[in-house]
This record gives sequence, C-alpha cells and structure tokens, in this order.
Amino acid sequence: MGFFKFIAFSKLCVALLFLAELVTSVGGIGVNWGTQATHPLPPATVVKMLQDNGFQKVKFFDANSSVLSALGKSGLQVMLGIPNDMLSSLASNVEAAESWIAQNLSSHISSNGVDVRYVAVGNEPFLSTYNGTYLTTTLPALQNVQAAVVKAGLSAQVKVTIPLNADVLESSTNLPSDGDFRSDIHDLMLEIVKSLSDNGAPFTINFYPFISLYNDPSFPVDFAFFDNSSSTLNDKGTVYTNVFDANYDMLVWALQKNGYGNMSIIVGEIGWPTDGDRNANAENAQRFNQGFMTRYSAGKGTPMRPGQLDVYLFSLIDEDAKSIQPGNFERHWGLFYYDGKPKYELNLGTSGSNGLVAAKGVAYLAKKWCVMSQSASLQDSQLGPSVSYACSHADCTSLGYGTSCSSLSAQGNISYAFNSYYQQYNQLDSACQFPNLSVITDSDPSSGGCRFIIMIQAQSSSLVGSSGSRGRGTVPAVLVSLLLYMILWMS
Ligand SMILES: *[C@@H]1O[C@H](CO)[C@@H](O)[C@H](O)[C@H]1NC(C)=O
Ligand SMILES: *[C@@H]1O[C@H](CO)[C@@H](O)[C@H](O)[C@H]1NC(C)=O
Ligand SMILES: *[C@@H]1O[C@H](CO)[C@@H](O)[C@H](O)[C@H]1NC(C)=O
Ligand SMILES: *[C@@H]1O[C@H](CO)[C@@H](O)[C@H](O)[C@H]1NC(C)=O
Ligand SMILES: *[C@@H]1O[C@H](CO)[C@@H](O)[C@H](O)[C@H]1NC(C)=O
Ligand SMILES: *[C@@H]1O[C@H](CO)[C@@H](O)[C@H](O)[C@H]1NC(C)=O
Ligand SMILES: *[C@@H]1O[C@H](CO)[C@@H](O)[C@H](O)[C@H]1NC(C)=O
Repeated sequence: MGFFKFIAFSKLCVALLFLAELVTSVGGIGVNWGTQATHPLPPATVVKMLQDNGFQKVKFFDANSSVLSALGKSGLQVMLGIPNDMLSSLASNVEAAESWIAQNLSSHISSNGVDVRYVAVGNEPFLSTYNGTYLTTTLPALQNVQAAVVKAGLSAQVKVTIPLNADVLESSTNLPSDGDFRSDIHDLMLEIVKSLSDNGAPFTINFYPFISLYNDPSFPVDFAFFDNSSSTLNDKGTVYTNVFDANYDMLVWALQKNGYGNMSIIVGEIGWPTDGDRNANAENAQRFNQGFMTRYSAGKGTPMRPGQLDVYLFSLIDEDAKSIQPGNFERHWGLFYYDGKPKYELNLGTSGSNGLVAAKGVAYLAKKWCVMSQSASLQDSQLGPSVSYACSHADCTSLGYGTSCSSLSAQGNISYAFNSYYQQYNQLDSACQFPNLSVITDSDPSSGGCRFIIMIQAQSSSLVGSSGSRGRGTVPAVLVSLLLYMILWMS
C-alpha cells in the first residue's frame, strides 16, 4: 500500500484501539450512595455528579422514593436495598414482600423509568456483631421477595441478592483454596446459594482491607494495598500480593467446592475511609482506591477469576449521621465530602480526566463559624459538659489521635466541637450560646488539613434542577462524535 494509505491505516488502527478501550472502560463502575446524613445534597445534584464522574451503577441501602425519582431516565443502573429491620416482616408472609415490591420497585420502574437491576435483601445480615439476629429470617425474606418479583413480571430484569460481609467465609489455613462458608452458617449459606443460582442471581460480597488493618495491628500494611508485593501469600503456587484478591478467591473456592463454581459475583462494597483513625486518611484512601481502580479499568480480576470484576465502590459521599459504633472512621468513607467536593485525585478511568468532578450548584450557609471565645477560661466548669453536649449531638470524629484535626490545641478542640454543633443546627444563633464560652466569627479557623466546615443549606426543592441530559443516550452520542472526529482527522 502507498505511504499515505499506510499512514491513514495506522491512524485507523490507533483510533480503533482507542475506541475499543473506551467501550470496555464503559463496562461500568458502580458506587454506594448512602443517605445517613444530617444535610444530604439534593438527589438531582447527586445524580448529576454520578453522571459527571462516569459512574454507571448506583447501590442503595433503602428505597427512598424522592431519591429514586431523581434517577428516572438517568441512564444509571440501580440496586435497591431492603434494611435488615424489615427482614422479619418480609419473611413472615409473601404478601408483605409483594406490597414492598409494588410500592418500592414496580412503581419506580413503570412510572419513573428507573433502571432497577437488583434488589438487595438485608445488608450484611450475618455479621457476627448481630449475634444471629437475622439468621432465621434472611433466607425466607429472600424467597418471598424473589417470588414477589416473579409475580410482578420483573424477574428477567431484576435479580434479588443479599449483600454479605466477607466474614461469611473462613479458612483454617488462611489460604484461599482452603476457604469455605463459615461452619456455623454453612448449611444456611448453601441454601441461599442454591436459591440465588436457581434464579440466575449473583452472590454479593463486601470486602474491607481497612477493617483487617483496624482490627489487627499486626496485619501486614502493604498487603492491604495493590502496589507493593513485599507481603505475599503463596497458595500452593498461586502468589497473592494483596488481601482483596485472596479474599475474593476464597469466595470463588467456597462456591466451587460446593458445586457453584460458575456463580457470578458482585463486590457490593469496597473502599477506604479518610478520617477518624490513624490509618484513615486521604493518602491511604487514594493509594487503595487508585490501586484498585487502575486494575479494575484494565479489566484485571483475580487469579481465580481473571476477567472484568463487577464492583460498587464504598462510598460516594460522607455521612455524618452514621452510627460510630464500628469506629469513628465510619462517617468518612466518601470519595466526596458532605458537600460533594472531591477529597483527592482519583482516576476512575471513565471521564478521561484525572480527577473526580465536584457536585455543581451546591448552596452553602453564610461564611461564619462558632468558636471558643477569647475571654473564656479552660478552667470553666461549664466547658466539659458543653463540649460533650456538642459532640454527642454533632460530629467530632475528626478529633483525636491520628485524625485530620489531631494537632489542634485544647482551645482548637473546643472550637471544633462548638462549630460542628452550630453548623449542624444551621447556624442558628441559639446554637452558639454555650454559656459565656462561645462566639461567632467570620474568620475561618481551619488550619492545615483540619477543616472547620460551613454546612450546606438544608434541602429545598428550588435547588433541584433537572437531572441532566447525560445518560443512556450518551455513549452512542460520544461514539458518533468520536467517529466523526476520526474521519476528519484521517482525511
Ligand atoms: C428521602 O430522601 C430525601 C431527600 O434526600 C430526604 O429529605 C428524606 O428525609 C428521605 N426520607 C427518608 C425516609 O429517609
Ligand atoms: C416500601 O414499601 C413498604 C410497604 O411494604 C412501606 O412500608 C415502605 O415504607 C416503603 N418504602 C421504603 C423506603 O421501604
Ligand atoms: C450482641 O451481644 C453482645 C454481648 O452479649 C452485646 O453487647 C450486643 O449488644 C449484642 N448485639 C446485638 C445487635 O444484639
Ligand atoms: C513496600 O513495602 C516495604 C515494606 O513495608 C517498604 O520498605 C517499601 O518501601 C515499600 N515500597 C513501596 C514502593 O511502597
Ligand atoms: C461452568 O460453565 C462452563 C462453560 O459455560 C461449563 O462447561 C461448566 O460445566 C459449568 N460448570 C458448572 C459447575 O456449572
Ligand atoms: C482534643 O480532643 C481529642 C478528642 O477528644 C483528645 O484526644 C485530645 O487529647 C485533645 N487535645 C487537646 C490538646 O486537648
Ligand atoms: C456569664 O458571665 C457573666 C459575667 O462575667 C455572669 O454574670 C453570668 O452569670 C455568666 N453566665 C453564665 C450562664 O455563666
């Protein structure tokens, strides 16, 4: 072929490769959208943010109808959740499940155009901290919900699953290949797996390398991450360089051993928090999430399942109303702060840009803060009770050893607590009236990595814009413009 034809041909090859990469990267990373926040962003703002960041799938822990309405025709695929406290009623009769499905699933699909793909029954119901509370209700609830989905005529589109914590697995040797379901729930797990398999539903499992490290100070830190193979686990010749691969493959072995080697697997939650513990910071979170996403975007799975994984990151936005019973880090799992600002650079392999895209049009309260007054004394007997009161009603999880505000002075600590309370109560004057101790200021007390926040405005419908036009139609549109661009470039 002639020289110019050759040039054109190689340009075509490069362009096709680029296109192929684009199409595979559209495979679809998901994210968990939890809503236990005192000041949640308006649902339409969050939907736009999901689209701007190239998320394809979103997972919930409930089925809030105003949130779901914002997802109509968004192009996002949805996993709804049924909270654990509903399991016993859904287990007791199929009518309860039918009513749940009618109200919380069918209506959103038919009248709002929400693309629901999964219903998650319960959330980690067999966690050992629940002391077996949900052991008898989870399977019957799964079966009733499944029957209700069939009756509603939605079983081809909507699969019913149970997000389980990785502690449903055990291995006497710690090797993945010796893994099986936990002995105290082994038979129950087999019944669940059989039910999932009969209905073509996936096994959903959550993995937390951070918790491994949190619970066990002797856990090899590098093994929690994806970029350092100084810690390895040799499983009869298969070398594991990170705990995620090892845990995932332990599930694959457990399924295979029990006759379900082909069952599809969803990683329901994976992530790293940024505050509230010495290992929880933006640097570690970025290292973990970027390490994970780089592999994910390359379509790289685990030694036992080398192909593309199916994953929901945990989580989208910080939730300041979550229980801190598991630890102070619990309110800091977000890729984004409470106000939809990204915490660190993260390339999701979706948008072509290196960073996360912030929420747009977020409305803040005034630029003012509540702090300890200059004239107050650290010896004041009201101080202790005031700080305790503020912290028990607001959020002081960024104070303490190893946190973002750990280097504050005693005064700084007190101001932090007062401000957290003041912002949570929407900057009411009465929320900065700790007796002779507090004062309102317009000078930002933040220092270094320690942020004294300004709260966002409580939701009002006027803030809610349209849910944006990017969506299912976008990919073909992008491809068409790319093709046009290629044709122009080659000519
Ligand atoms: C549902 O979501 C809306 C919007 O975020 C929120 O205002 C409302 O409190 C939520 N309802 C429940 C029951 O959680
Ligand atoms: C779902 O449906 C049930 C009725 O079975 C109802 O009680 C519940 O409030 C609905 N909404 C959510 C978010 O679960
Ligand atoms: C589980 O048992 C422990 C110890 O008996 C108790 O402290 C805890 O509150 C129980 N948790 C639940 C969810 O019942
Ligand atoms: C890997 O981990 C080892 C041991 O903790 C450490 O000495 C080394 O610097 C780490 N390498 C990288 C690239 O992080
Ligand atoms: C898994 O799938 C393969 C190919 O589809 C099939 O040959 C094999 O029998 C299946 N194995 C099981 C355990 O279902
Ligand atoms: C600030 O508060 C934290 C958490 O209550 C505490 O651990 C720390 O010692 C305090 N710092 C000072 C200087 O008082
Ligand atoms: C505040 O201080 C003033 C004078 O310094 C005192 O009279 C008053 O009782 C104090 N108020 C409270 C609530 O402690």
